[in-house]
Order: sequence, then C-alpha cells, then structure tokens
Amino acid sequence: MILLGIESSCDESAAALIDGARVLSSVVSTQLVHRDWGGVVPELASREHLRVLPAVINAALAEAGLEIGDLAAVAATRGPGLPGSLLVGYHLGKCLAYARDLPFLGVNHMEGHIYASFVEEEPLLPCLVLVISGGHTQLVLMEEPRRYRIIGRTLDDAAGEAFDKVAKLLGLGWPGGPAIGRAAAGGDPAFLAYPRALAGREGFDFSFSGLKTAVLHSLRAQDAAWRAAHVSDICASFEQAVCDQLARGALRAAEATGARQLVLAGGVAANARLRAQLEAACATLGLPLALPPLAWCTDNAVMIARAAHGRLLRGERSPRHEDATPRFDLEQASTGTARRELT
Ligand code: KG4
Ligand code: ZN
Repeated sequence: MILLGIESSCDESAAALIDGARVLSSVVSTQLVHRDWGGVVPELASREHLRVLPAVINAALAEAGLEIGDLAAVAATRGPGLPGSLLVGYHLGKCLAYARDLPFLGVNHMEGHIYASFVEEEPLLPCLVLVISGGHTQLVLMEEPRRYRIIGRTLDDAAGEAFDKVAKLLGLGWPGGPAIGRAAAGGDPAFLAYPRALAGREGFDFSFSGLKTAVLHSLRAQDAAWRAAHVSDICASFEQAVCDQLARGALRAAEATGARQLVLAGGVAANARLRAQLEAACATLGLPLALPPLAWCTDNAVMIARAAHGRLLRGERSPRHEDATPRFDLEQASTGTARRELT
C-alpha cells in the first residue's frame, strides 16, 4: 500500500511516501520567514504552507519515482498544532483523497512523533513514551497498540520551549534546541548548579519555567565578558539540568508502570546529551530504549504516514465532515475513543 503522508502543523511543510515499513521518499521544507521574528508567526506559517505544500508533495512523488495515480491512501496531520497551518495540509490531503477516491485518515501529530521510532520495528508493549517537543512534554503509557494514557506532563513550559527561550536569552538564535546543543558541546555541565524542579516530589510531572528564570538570574549577575567566555559552560549546565529532570521522570515512570521499553519522541529527542544519558542509564537497567533517527525527530511526514499505516490497515477512515483540530491530545486519539469526544 503506497501511502502519502502530509505534515503542516507548525512551520515545516512536509510530504512523504511509504510502502509499509519502506520509506520511498521524504521532503521537508522548513519555513525561514519566522527567523527574523524569533518564533513562529501563525499567519505567515499558514500562508507559507499554502505556497509550498503542492510543490513539496510533487517533490516527494518525484523522489520516489511515482505519480499521483500510484497512491493507495492519503494521511495528513489533523492536530494538535496551529489552526491555519493544520487546515492547509489537512484539506489538501482530504481533497486529493476524495478527488482520487482514496481512503483518507487524519493523524494525531504526537502519535506521529511516537511512530518515528517505529518505522521499521514494532513497539514492545507496554512502552513508556517521553514526548518532548516545542509544545509538549508528556509521559505517555501505551499498553495496547495506539491506546495512550498520559501519566505526567509539564506544569508550565515544554522542554523544547525552554531550549528556545534560553537560546533567546543567550542570543543564540532560533530554533534554540539545536543552537544550544551545538554551543554546549565541550562545555562543563557542572559549571553552574541550575535547579532540577520537582526533584523530591511524587508523581511524574515536569516543570521548566523556574530553570529558565535561574538562567536569566545567572546571566544578570555577570557581565558580557563573562557571558562570552562561558557560553558553552552555561549551555551545558542548562542542558544537563533539563536532561536530569527528563531522565529522572522517565526512568521512574518506566519502573512504576512496568514498561518493557522506553521511547523518545519529538524534536528534543534529537538532543545528543539526552540520548547519551538515557542510552547509558537504560543499558545499566537492561531497559530497551527506542530513539527516533535524527532526521525524524523534528517534524516530518514519514512519521505521519507511518502512524496512519496501521490504522488504515485496520479500516479506519476519517469521516468526510471531520475537520482539523488545534487541540487533540493522545488520549483523544486513542483507538476505541469516540471521535465526538473532541471539542
Ligand atoms: O517536534 P518538533 O519539531 O515540533 C513540535 O511538534 O513542537 O520540536 C521542535 C522543538 C523546538 O523547541 C526545538 O528547539 C527542539 O524541538 N529541538 C531540540 C533539538 N532539536 C530540536 N532541542 C534540544 N536539542 C536539539 N538538538
Ligand atoms: Zn512536532
């Protein structure tokens, strides 16, 4: 079954073709119009999707050496995300499917991130997923295929948001995660003792806004020369504080739930320090760890196509009247959950 996946939830316009576990092509066009604004401008994002998505889809077809007539089904991100951006990709996919009389399925973006780790393999269930992106930080338990229970979440900023905000404070540009990751390489992670929020607490929630404020205070206490001399130490110390909090929560939750596998999902899963730290910890514990390939950590359409694949095979289709939705959590997307529960 040759399946076209479309992703447009934020500032990446992406299309991919898969045939089962085989990736035939993947095209991601990252919108550069937001760079001058230091963050994604929703109105500009939807206009960019409208401008480039048809060409992105054609490029994915060309890369795979296929034509529209070869498609067996179409999937597009339904939510969560920016409303205008979602609408563009979702309706483009839906129209394409209906014009060609093909099955169409709207996909939860976070489920897509999870399936970035399962393009070729299947999850070992129950698995515990640490979802860490620009808008989400959650611990999600998958006990049965595509059935999700959110057992922990951030009380304030998402992990990726913390990276983006601290990068802004340091003038490292946007998006902040990759910039901090580069700057932190070679830095001393013990240079500054930033707080690990909620360290002594029960439960599996996270908090990152205090850490961001601690970085701000540490910068204000020093002059520009000190900052310039220690930027990589500051980044490494910040990154270590984020990694420690994420690793502690994920490992505790994996133990408490009896998970057979820990899975990373979302843009922050590209972070080298976090990957290395969890690899070492999981090896010690004998806990299998699924890390998404670097190319599929941040938004892409392979993950959307792959998440749709199993559902389409089971006969799932999106009803014709259904629309994209900016709020759509993983529990609402769980198999067996009535679609009308969405608001
Ligand atoms: O999953 P994603 O592409 O988009 C959302 O669904 O939000 O994640 C984007 C987030 C951004 O906040 C970005 O700074 C962060 O992922 N990110 C990273 C790295 N690469 C991207 N954070 C830390 N280290 C990285 N290498
Ligand atoms: Zn994403």
